[in-house]
Amino acid sequence: MNIKQLLVEKALAALSAAGAPEGTNPAVTQSTRPQFGDYQINGAMGAAKALKTNPRELAQKIIDNLDVADLAEKVEIAGPGFINIHLKPEFLANRLMTAEQDVKLGVASHAKPQKVVVDFSSPNLAKEMHVGHLRSTIIGDAVVRALEFRGDTVIRQNHMGDWGTQFGMLIAHLEDLLNQGVDLEKVALADLETFYRDAKKRFDDEEGFADKARDYVVKLQGGDAHCAKLWQLFIDTSVKHSEEVYGKLNVTLKRDDIMAESAYNDALAGVITTLQAKGLAVEDQGAQVVFLDELANKDGEPSAFIVQKSGGGFLYATTDLAACDYRSNQLGADRILIFVDARQSLHFSQVELTARKAGFLRDETSYEFCPFGTMMGDDGKPFKTRTGGTVKLADLLEEAIGRATEKLAARESDLSAEARAEIARKVGIGAVKYADLSKHRTSDYIFNWDSMLSFEGATAPYLQYAYTRVSSIFRKANVDSSNLVGAIVIDEAQEKALALKLLQLEEVLDLMISEATPHVLCGYLYELASLYMSFYEACPILKEDVAKETRESRLILCNLVAKTLATGLDLLGIEVMEQM
Ligand code: ARG
Repeated sequence: MNIKQLLVEKALAALSAAGAPEGTNPAVTQSTRPQFGDYQINGAMGAAKALKTNPRELAQKIIDNLDVADLAEKVEIAGPGFINIHLKPEFLANRLMTAEQDVKLGVASHAKPQKVVVDFSSPNLAKEMHVGHLRSTIIGDAVVRALEFRGDTVIRQNHMGDWGTQFGMLIAHLEDLLNQGVDLEKVALADLETFYRDAKKRFDDEEGFADKARDYVVKLQGGDAHCAKLWQLFIDTSVKHSEEVYGKLNVTLKRDDIMAESAYNDALAGVITTLQAKGLAVEDQGAQVVFLDELANKDGEPSAFIVQKSGGGFLYATTDLAACDYRSNQLGADRILIFVDARQSLHFSQVELTARKAGFLRDETSYEFCPFGTMMGDDGKPFKTRTGGTVKLADLLEEAIGRATEKLAARESDLSAEARAEIARKVGIGAVKYADLSKHRTSDYIFNWDSMLSFEGATAPYLQYAYTRVSSIFRKANVDSSNLVGAIVIDEAQEKALALKLLQLEEVLDLMISEATPHVLCGYLYELASLYMSFYEACPILKEDVAKETRESRLILCNLVAKTLATGLDLLGIEVMEQM
């Protein structure tokens, strides 16, 4: 049980003994400043209101009933009735010694693991992955890693867009190129962007091509073998492009995680039948539409959710309804998390409302649309190339590595060229990821090379550097960090602050998991690194006159900092190195 949970239990018992109404929220939080203690119990105010009594008096009663002798050295009332808890250094030291023995640093597995379906990355295969998919991919991946670290069962779902009318045009173009003997991977599909543009140009300008393209869509959807083969060729190459990007990004998605739109084809007709049978879908101008009063506009007109086009074609919406059914009813998900651009929020509200009414989503399944904001350029407009085109993810990552290489070249180093290239790769990719992950998921943010690659402030290079500094101590001391003896003794304020932060990893992960927000972990690691720097300044470790026990204790703290930084960064998909 983490410290917060422990205090919640104790606070609940004390509140009840003090006569607070059943179900009072104890409102236990981490204190924001050392003078407010380490944790606060803020539930006295709410309870006093309900009881119509004086909150400070009630707070005193709560304290009288609070059984924290083992863990707190001081408990005091502040302001209108806050209860500030100052933890005992020995309590923190003991907990840390236990955490030190654990590969997961004391982070326990959920007592009741959940089955969580996570829909992330999900690029459209007609084109190359662009920066819009960067956010979905790395935010989703970080949340997935944290869920698994906490013991939940995660089913990754890469809901790739591999179906739709544009594929008619693409395979018609592909067929012509193949007939001309063009090498598929090296030439025709080496650059999907160009391929798409060429096909589109022919579709718009070339006589007869559009007809052929439309004919191929119908054939493809009807299961024609020749068209299916061309389509498969196209999809395979496109998937390979995505996999290259995943590899570069150090993302955990594998081919098996692909559950593309086309996988739901056979279920789509059934979705419509069910919606009709339940009286949810009705015909409107030849199309099948679900009208949703819950999402009505100002004039009271219900929102129209089209689930089948007038020609009989199915849509993105139909597929998402089938996906709900699969994930909730077949996979048995407790939670479904979907990481998609905020601009699709109406769509997902429509999907959830409809799916709940139709029984495609069980009540027990929570459906969590996790939107994210837009990545902006320095000009404050959506991130584009200088000529206004979409930035390819692969190019962006290459540029990140190139810039990191330049930056690192300016530092002195006796490492081999190979080792330095490897470091530059980790720094460049880490910088892009941390810059993105550290912003609140829902806000737009400005993509800026200089700030993300800086060695100062909350950046990946700063944290990676902090890690190398901590590990260098063991090299300097000529001590094997896996073989530390002695015990933690906390005397100095900087030691206590560091110890407390180290013990809060699980609390941070819980927040990150419940809200699907990696930025809280980013913030935590930055605070940890900063506290380490203050500790390092104030608390000598290897100096001659430092007592042996103190040195041992501080080395254990260093080791825990190193392990926590490495673990935390790994949960963000960011790699560390021993030297920089
Ligand atoms: N392929 C879509 C896009 O790029 C994202 C799919 C998200 N997942 C879903 N179940 N609709 O916009």
